Amino acid sequence: MPPTRLLGICGALRTGSTNRMLLGEAFRLFGQAEVTLADLRLPLYDGDLEDQDGIPASVDRLASQIAASDAVVISTPEYNKAPPGVLKNALDWVSRVDGNPWQDKPVAILSAAAGRAGGEASQFALRLQLNPFRPRVLAGPAVMLASSRSAFDADNRLKEERMVKTLRDLMAGLRAEIRAA
Ligand SMILES: Cc1cc2nc3c(=O)[nH]c(=O)nc-3n(C[C@H](O)[C@H](O)[C@H](O)COP(=O)(O)O)c2cc1C
Repeated sequence: MPPTRLLGICGALRTGSTNRMLLGEAFRLFGQAEVTLADLRLPLYDGDLEDQDGIPASVDRLASQIAASDAVVISTPEYNKAPPGVLKNALDWVSRVDGNPWQDKPVAILSAAAGRAGGEASQFALRLQLNPFRPRVLAGPAVMLASSRSAFDADNRLKEERMVKTLRDLMAGLRAEIRAA
């Protein structure tokens, strides 16, 4: 049987992103899979750019990665109670390619943030932003990592066993959703 292909999308660009660490933990807990991390360093969406040059190669690559995956895991920070612009920019660009790579795609959403709510508002907003593309977004369990900069040990492992368990449950749900897809 071919390996399960997972695509990770991190809403933060910075090197030390705790959302990227959380994705790493999600993939570890998912188990055997072929993992790709998306690159959201895309141009800003601009209709003139699209008219002149068409879809940028970086956007085509992202759309193909989504289409080729068995499931997508998105981890979003919270910037002023919403997902960062880079994430929305990526969703907007991908909506401009032919076809819809998100259609019926199993998706798990995570969030990691400095605040005590762990990016709850951002995660909720991201769910709404994905709605137009009709993916199969898991309803839960909710993985919202609060005070995320102190949540990982020196090996980038989650310190709190309760969070590991919730993330493991979400990944088990994602595996089941892939099988059902
Ligand atoms: C522009 C901006 C706005 C932010 N707004 C919030 C916020 O509304 N809620 C929150 O919990 N943290 C907020 N933060 C802090 C982020 O949660 C924190 O920087 C987090 O580590 C970002 O995720 P990362 O570690 O993956 O980069 C904000 C950070 C920035 C840069």
